[in-house]
Amino acid sequence: MALSAAIILAAGEGTRMRSSKPKVLHTLAGKTFLNRVMNSVSALNPDTLAVVVHYQAERVAAAARSYDERVTIVNQDDIPGTGRAVQCAMAQLQEHGALDGVVLIAASDMPLLDADTLNRLLAFHEQSGNGATVLTTILDDPTGYGRIIRDSEGNVLRIVEQKDANSSELAVHEVNTSVYVFDAMLLAEAIANLNSDNAQGEFYLTDALETAKAHGAVGAFAASDPLSVEGVNDRMQLAALAKAHNARVCEHWMREGVTILDPDTTWIEDDVRIARDAVILPGCFLQGHTVIGEGAEVGPYTTLISAVIDAEAHVERSRVQKTHIGRAANIGPWTYLRPGNDLGEESKAGAFVEMKKAHIGNGTKVPHLSYVGDADLGEHTNIGGGTITANYDGVHKHHTTIGSNVHVGAGNLFVAPVEVGDDVTTGAGSVVRHDVPAESMVYSENTQHVVEGWKPEWER
Ligand code: UD1
Ligand code: MG
Repeated sequence: MALSAAIILAAGEGTRMRSSKPKVLHTLAGKTFLNRVMNSVSALNPDTLAVVVHYQAERVAAAARSYDERVTIVNQDDIPGTGRAVQCAMAQLQEHGALDGVVLIAASDMPLLDADTLNRLLAFHEQSGNGATVLTTILDDPTGYGRIIRDSEGNVLRIVEQKDANSSELAVHEVNTSVYVFDAMLLAEAIANLNSDNAQGEFYLTDALETAKAHGAVGAFAASDPLSVEGVNDRMQLAALAKAHNARVCEHWMREGVTILDPDTTWIEDDVRIARDAVILPGCFLQGHTVIGEGAEVGPYTTLISAVIDAEAHVERSRVQKTHIGRAANIGPWTYLRPGNDLGEESKAGAFVEMKKAHIGNGTKVPHLSYVGDADLGEHTNIGGGTITANYDGVHKHHTTIGSNVHVGAGNLFVAPVEVGDDVTTGAGSVVRHDVPAESMVYSENTQHVVEGWKPEWER
């Protein structure tokens, strides 16, 4: 069914989060609530996607535009309530004439709302021939939600908010998810005469349903998966929902053949991909567009941010960002790979090694206590412990190139820009300031002085 408009409500402060940030810009599994809801709603291809803003309006609007530049921003005025938000949206959307067709409305504090649920809601709405359909769900604990009140034949009568409900209404477990489909004409009528005559003194959108009922049939469609429609109003609900979602993501990957030793301490974001027989040890954060190859082992205590880990590689107790790690490479423990590295097959970045924009050839090893930045290293080269590429002169970054089959002694300093050819050996403690030709040995003078019988002043 063609959607003439989708209206996402994002004007509220989210007081119960007790945050300086608007609620809808809080994140679940790496994406803001608003981003998630906009993605799911966009999948239905509405003619217009409107986001209603008010609290920190510019900030929320900028975020909405960054997710979808075609978005229509609606500014809610100072009158509070979900009903007022829709009144403002409809006024703007109908500036150039009445809308026809169907309008979807969704709150933006339901981060796991998915396109599949929305599609089924739309299909139900179309089949039923109703003028309005509310998406509901059945919860073991409905506290805080608006309750769906039905008559003895099961027809939807109205929605009662928690704060306005009597004890028999509070006993209802079917709740309003804050997602609705309305025929546009009916919506315009239903919101025309809202008032704030309720416990919160707000214009409730939920009241529009009762008015809609007087003008046409109203129905309810129950989402089969409560998680997909759960609202987040405070930090406890956020933690619980994030945990439940993560448990599902971990379960998905385990079913695909990935070993996850401890799903309780393994956090995997939605865009991560993991091949079978990979092993994820406890305490890992797999984020962004991370890709993990077959049989790779990650963890314990490793953060991967949009990293690509090829098959059979090992990454232990490390932080790896926007880096490609080749097949059977060995990383860690305590390795910090900042963005832009490409490490070859069977290469190594060992303990207390930091790299940035480093290209490391196949079989090349940087085993201990080194910094390699803005550098190209050939194949089967070995870098002695404590070696540094001095890439920064205080103003500019410079490049270091080291060839293949090079043996770098311990404690070397490469003062960039500098180039070292293939098959070179360098002495321990060398400070390499000038290019070194292939097949040579380089060392720099480092005189050792011995002062016999010397004692520190306090001992003399
Ligand atoms: C709302 C529903 C409740 C439902 C619950 C589902 C109403 C009156 N109540 O309650 O029936 O069970 O969601 O989670 O609709 N917003 C605006 N402008 C405003 C106020 C809110 O755009 O003036 C937006 C918020 O940014 C939020 C959404 O509307 O995305 C819902 O607001 P919230 O305050 O979370 O409503 P609930 O109390 O959860
Ligand atoms: Mg809410």
